[in-house]
Amino acid sequence: MDNNKPKMRSQEWFGRFDTLGFTHRSWMKNQGYPDHVFDGRPVIGICNTWSELTPCNGHFRILAEFVRRGVYEAGGLPLEFPAMSLGEILMRPTTMLFRNLASMEIEELIRANPLDGVVLLTGCDKTTPSCLMGAASVDLPTIVVNGGPMLNGKFRGRDIGSGTDVWRLSDDLRVGAITMDDYLEAESCMSRSDGHCMTMGTASTMACMVEALGLTLPGAAAIPAADSRRRKLAQLSGQRIVEMVKEDLRLSHILTRPALENAIKINAAVGGSTNFVLHLLAIAGRLGIDLTLDDFDQLGSRMPLLVNLMPSGEFLMEDFFYAGGLPAVIRELHAHLHQDAITVNGQTIAQNTENAPNYNAEVIAALDKPFQVDVGLTVLRGNLCEQGAIIKPSAATPKLLRHRGRAVVFSDYEDYEARIDLPDLDVDPDCILVLQNVGPKGYPGMPEVGNFHLPKKLLAQGVTDMIRISDARMSGTAFGTVVLHTAPEAAIGGTLALVQDGDIIELDVPGRRLHLEVSDEELVRRRAAWQPRPPHSERGYVSLYLEHVQQADQGVDFDFLVGKSGAAVAHGNH
Ligand code: FES
Repeated sequence: MDNNKPKMRSQEWFGRFDTLGFTHRSWMKNQGYPDHVFDGRPVIGICNTWSELTPCNGHFRILAEFVRRGVYEAGGLPLEFPAMSLGEILMRPTTMLFRNLASMEIEELIRANPLDGVVLLTGCDKTTPSCLMGAASVDLPTIVVNGGPMLNGKFRGRDIGSGTDVWRLSDDLRVGAITMDDYLEAESCMSRSDGHCMTMGTASTMACMVEALGLTLPGAAAIPAADSRRRKLAQLSGQRIVEMVKEDLRLSHILTRPALENAIKINAAVGGSTNFVLHLLAIAGRLGIDLTLDDFDQLGSRMPLLVNLMPSGEFLMEDFFYAGGLPAVIRELHAHLHQDAITVNGQTIAQNTENAPNYNAEVIAALDKPFQVDVGLTVLRGNLCEQGAIIKPSAATPKLLRHRGRAVVFSDYEDYEARIDLPDLDVDPDCILVLQNVGPKGYPGMPEVGNFHLPKKLLAQGVTDMIRISDARMSGTAFGTVVLHTAPEAAIGGTLALVQDGDIIELDVPGRRLHLEVSDEELVRRRAAWQPRPPHSERGYVSLYLEHVQQADQGVDFDFLVGKSGAAVAHGNH
C-alpha cells in the first residue's frame, strides 16, 4: 500500500476486508474485473444520459467508450451508469416537469455509489442542468462531456436550423406557401446527423454555459457530434477527470460566483436561450451562491452580441466551430470577465483562451464591432410581474420593444388552441396576446409555448411578430417579441391571472417595465373574485412537484432540493 496516495472515497467500499468488502468486490468480479482494479485507483462514474427516446443523445454509448479509454489510460477505473434521460422532443407535457426529478436521481446515484469523480455526458436541453444540479449537490470532482450539435441542416440549397426553421416552415405550411411534400422532406434535411439542435437553442446554450463555467475542456461546446474531435475530447476528458480526483478539484472549486458571472456575460454575447436563466439560478441555489434575476440584467443586458447564430442571427453551430467556437468569443470578452476563474484543466479561463483564433468575422465579431449592442436578456418589472419577467431583445422586433396595446387574453393553452385561428377573433397587429396558466404549476411544468403562433388571419396579412406575454418558457431556438417567465404565475394568483380582454398593457424594454394599466382598486376587486384551479394531480410525482416547485425567479427548483448534502453516506450497504 502506497501511503502517499490520497485515500479514495471508493476505498470505503472496495478497500475493506470484511463481509462488506467481500461483497462489494466479489459481485463486481462477475463482470470480469481482476483484483488489482480495486487497489485504490480513482473510480470514475460515467453518468450517461443515452436513450433511444432522446435522439440528441443517441450517440452517447460511443462517446462513453472514448471516456472509458481516457480513464483507463490515466490509471482509473471507469464505471458507466445510466441516468434519467430527458428527451426534449418526445416527453409530454414538457421535459421541464422532470428536470428536478432527474437531478434527484443523479444526485442520489452519485452519492450512493463508490465513485471518486464523475463524467457527465450531457446533450439535449435538460440533460445538462439536471446532471449539473444533481452533481452540485454532491460536489465530487466533475467534468462535463457534452454531446455536440448536429451538422447544419441543408434544404434545397440553403441552411436550415433546428427549431428556428420549424416555426418558419410550419407557418409557411399553414398559409399554403409550401406543400406537405416540401414539409416532410425538410424534416429529414434538418436533422441529418448525430447531435443536439444546432441553432443557439437551449442545448447549445447549455453547452456554452458549461464551457463558460469552466466545466469542460476548452473548445468543447461547438465541436459537432459527428466530428471525430468530439471523441478525442471525450477521451481527453476521461484522462483529465482521473487527475482532477487526485488533485481533489471539486465542482465547488470551479463553480464560484465569479464563474457564474462569467457565464452570464458569455451567454449574453452568444445570444443564448432564455432557459439559461432558470437553469443557472437552480444550479446556483444548489451551490448556495446568492444569484438573483437582477444579476442577469445587471451583468448581461449591456453585453454586445458577438455571435451571429440562429435564432438571433444567420449561422449555425457547425459554422461557429469552424470560426473558432467559444474560446474565440471568450478571448474577445477578456476585459469583461473574471479572468482568474479556474477551469477543469487547472488553468484559468483567460489562460485557456489567450491565443484563441477567430477564423470568420461574419460568425464571431470583434468586441469593438459587435453584431448588436445591449442585447442580453432583460429583466422586466411592474405590476404585471412583481417577481419579474424576462425578454430576449436580440430575438425581438425592435419597434415592438416600446409599445402599448390592447390585451387579447387566452385563459390556458387549450383556450388558445381553440380560438387563435377563429376568423372573428377580435385582434389586430397592435394587440398584445396574453396566455395564462402555462407556468411552473399552471401547465404544469412551464412548457415552451411562450412563442405561440400568431393568428392565422394576421399571418396571411404579412404580420410576422406581435408582443406575447405568458408565464411559460420559450424554446431557445425560437424568436419574437415574447415576454416570458412572468412571476408570480397565473396559477397561484399572480396579476397575470387578472388580465382581461381589452385591458391596456405597456411594454417598455429599455425602461425595464411591464405594466397593466388597470387601477389598484380594480385589481383588488378582480383578485378577490379569482379562484385557483383544481390541482392537476393528487398522487405521484406530479403532486410532489406541485407542492414543492418554486417560481421562475428562483429557478423552478424544488424548495427541498436547494443546497447540497455533500458526498458522505451515513451507513454501509445493508
Ligand atoms: Fe434535443 Fe433540441 S431537441 S437539443
